[in-house]
Amino acid sequence: ILLSDDKDNISKNLIRLSDQRQVNLIITTGGTGFSNRDNTPEATTAVMTRNAPGIAEAIRFQSMKYTKRAMLSRGVSVIRNNTLIVNLPGSEKAVSESMEVIMGTVEHGIKILINEAHDCARV
Ligand code: MTE
Repeated sequence: ILLSDDKDNISKNLIRLSDQRQVNLIITTGGTGFSNRDNTPEATTAVMTRNAPGIAEAIRFQSMKYTKRAMLSRGVSVIRNNTLIVNLPGSEKAVSESMEVIMGTVEHGIKILINEAHDCARV
């Protein structure tokens, strides 16, 4: 879904997708930088029920090997009920680098979130 930078509208759509459509993973892209109109992290934290900071931390940490500017992304990762919401930066390059970091691991988190997995033993 392509949205403008309007904070309330972003929050509204996150709520709609998580509460009505009941999707278990929402990935946003863009609006995480320092510009005044970048407010995806604020729109996301406004709808969270619990924090899940490790995913955003891992993205920033791993992305530093590609560019030091990775530290300029303010993206957050949070939970809203049964939905995990992860903010990624806006460029295609950043999205692909970030997805590489999270792809192997978020599935297990979501399974625990929705009670489909309980065993955290390492694979
Ligand atoms: N992370 C990765 N992996 N690769 C990138 O190229 N670009 C950075 C950062 N994170 C980047 C990245 C840059 S230049 C900015 S300004 C911030 O993400 C914020 O991007 P956004 O405003 O498009 O969300």
